Amino acid sequence: MALSDTPPLAHLRVAPSILSADFTNLGEAVERVTPGTDWLHVDVMDGHFVPNLTIGPPVVASLRKHTDLYLDTHLMITDPAKYLEPFRDAGADGCTVHVEVGETEALIAQMRSLGLRAGLAANPDTPFEALEPYLHLVDLVLCMTVFPGFGGQSFISDVLPKIAQVRSAADAAGLTLDVEVDGGIDERTVVEVVRAGANVFVAGSAVFNRDDPLGAVEGILAAATEERAGAPS
Ligand code: DX5
Ligand code: ZN
Repeated sequence: MALSDTPPLAHLRVAPSILSADFTNLGEAVERVTPGTDWLHVDVMDGHFVPNLTIGPPVVASLRKHTDLYLDTHLMITDPAKYLEPFRDAGADGCTVHVEVGETEALIAQMRSLGLRAGLAANPDTPFEALEPYLHLVDLVLCMTVFPGFGGQSFISDVLPKIAQVRSAADAAGLTLDVEVDGGIDERTVVEVVRAGANVFVAGSAVFNRDDPLGAVEGILAAATEERAGAPS
C-alpha cells in the first residue's frame, strides 16, 4: 500500500471510566464530564475473569436513561456470549470482549448481529499476534495498560510496542481502527500512548479522583492533541 493510502488519523477522545466515580452519585459524575467528551467507559467485571465485581445491565440501563454519551462497555467476563444481548438491550453502544476468553470470531459476529460496535481487548501480557487475525473484523482494539480488575493501578509501559504494532497493522491494511488504552492513563502517560498510535484514552482515577473531573478530561485530551500535533508526519 502506498503511503498516500494510509487511512485518516483516528479521532482523539477521552473515555472517562465510571469505575472511579461515586456510585451513589453516578448521574452527577456523568454530567460533570459530559461537556468534555462523547464517550463513557463502563467496566463490567464478573469476579471470575477478573478478581472483582462491578456492574451489570441494570446500571447500564440507568445510565442510558440519563445520558446520550456513547456507552463503551468493557466486558471483563468469562462468558460474554450470555450477556451481550442484555447489555445491548440495556443501551450499550459498543461492547469489548477479551481475546483471552476465546470464541473470538463467534463473539464478534454476535456483537455485529446485535448492532453493537465491536471491540476486542488484550491483557498486558497477551501478544499482538493474538489480536492480529481479528483486526479487520472489529471497530476497536483495547490494549490494557494494567492488568484488569481495579482502578488506580500504575501504567505498564511494556505495552507500548503492542499499541504501535496494532496501529501500524491497521494502517497497512487501510483500517481506521479505534485503538483504545485502559489503565494508568493521565496527562503524562497519554503522551506515550498517542506517540505509539492510540486514539481513545480510558481514564478513571485521573478523572474522578480529582476535584475537577472536567478539567482532568480536558487536560488529558489537550496533552494528547498537543503530542499528535507535534509529531513528524
Ligand atoms: C481496569 C479497568 C479500567 C479502570 C481504569 O480493570 O478496565 O477501565 O477503570 O482505571 P484507572 O484509569 O484508574 O487506571
Ligand atoms: Zn476498562
